[in-house]
Amino acid sequence: MGSETKFAPDYRQSHIPPFQQVIADDPAPAPEVLREYSETDVPVARVSREQYRDPAFAALEEKRLWPRVWQFACREEQIPEVGDCVVYESPGASFIIMRSDDDEIRAFYNSCLHRGMKLCTHDTSVMKLACPFHGFTWNLDGTLAHIPSRWDFPDLDEKKMNLPEARVERWQGFVFINRDADAPPLLDYLGHLPAHFADWSYEDKYLATVIRKTIDANWKTCIEAFLESYHLAGIHAQALPFGGDASTQYDVWPDDPHVSRFLEPTGVMSDQLPRALSEQEILNAALNVVFAGVEPPQLDEGVKARHHMAAGMRAAMGEADGTDYSAMSDAEAADAVQYSVFPNMIIFRSLGYPYVYRFLPVRGDPNRATFEFLIFKPKPANGQPVPEVNLVELGEQDTFAGAGILPPWHGEIYDQDVNGLRQCQQGMRDGGNADIIYSAYQEVRIRHLHQTLARYLSDDPTEAPGRR
Ligand code: FES
Ligand SMILES: [Fe+2]
Repeated sequence: MGSETKFAPDYRQSHIPPFQQVIADDPAPAPEVLREYSETDVPVARVSREQYRDPAFAALEEKRLWPRVWQFACREEQIPEVGDCVVYESPGASFIIMRSDDDEIRAFYNSCLHRGMKLCTHDTSVMKLACPFHGFTWNLDGTLAHIPSRWDFPDLDEKKMNLPEARVERWQGFVFINRDADAPPLLDYLGHLPAHFADWSYEDKYLATVIRKTIDANWKTCIEAFLESYHLAGIHAQALPFGGDASTQYDVWPDDPHVSRFLEPTGVMSDQLPRALSEQEILNAALNVVFAGVEPPQLDEGVKARHHMAAGMRAAMGEADGTDYSAMSDAEAADAVQYSVFPNMIIFRSLGYPYVYRFLPVRGDPNRATFEFLIFKPKPANGQPVPEVNLVELGEQDTFAGAGILPPWHGEIYDQDVNGLRQCQQGMRDGGNADIIYSAYQEVRIRHLHQTLARYLSDDPTEAPGRR
């Protein structure tokens, strides 16, 4: 399916070059993994809108999807010391992610084995895990440590009192958990991801900031908006001169049910503009949005807007990170290289976007989800401990632009997305029963998500990927 020479589906019609042609004449050439192209037909052309709004469907996901997938729960650097723990609220089950030994991380169900009390309500650091109700206490490895008035439980077998656990496996500092003993190992589940990030490690990065916002939209409505660039003209029209929507490459691999990606070039005009823009006009428009008021430089003969922008990104991020990025490819420096891990994680392989997104359903309400926007920074080279995560909770009225974490123009992009998602969900919820339909190429990643989702939700449990 992958091909050296094929850059776009045969049925594509656009006067704007596809990603592979865009990067072909970059002065700083893209690495091999960005020069791969994989086109895969995914037959899921439509789904019922009940999948986005029906509490019964959300309940089915809670029963068959979330307990069986690998979920990114936290970062290793969030629990550096033995006894540090993070509470991860997975859909339908709460977990304590515990550093139980120097190189051992465990995921305990967050519930007391006496009368069920939630053991931990927030991230903390403990010597032992003590239940706040009557004081049953467990060691960091989940074995029972103490029961007050032990004499009053004469029949209790202490060997059967270990805290129940989910599986824990790690990749590049991400701690994943899975409740299903039959699930494939994490590295199999992650498909193409480990190879594609072999030269782009999150191991060297730490989680600096989390911006968290609850959005009035189903978790799938949310993530799907980040799996395509097709909505650029509708939602982010200011980026049409340079956003690369028409050039974006969408890759789904036939043997990879959990991972997909897009490669969205920067500094390339949309095909939804009425006339062709010069490279200078593209640069002017981009700088006008990104640095309003800054006089754009005159591009030298033969220099493209994207090359200028890539150089600017290498310099700006180099200064911010105290790292020399001068040898980095233009595509890695300037473009949005973005992968998704089924069901709810997005991870970038881009200098300008050191980001991971996570989307989680709000329990009992299919019309709401929590969007977590994670920002990474390079770990200090001297091995110094990293600062604690800066958690920024955005309320109903709070905006990404107003939070002052992202550059204003970039915050505005996310505010546009949030407003669009809210309106999309309203229409989905209140607009009758017509099926939702997806385009063949630009929305192939959404088709892929639904194809995999259907396998997990099937009445036949062996349909789920990696099961026999
Ligand atoms: S419920 Fe935990 S000790 Fe009683
Ligand atoms: Fe968007």
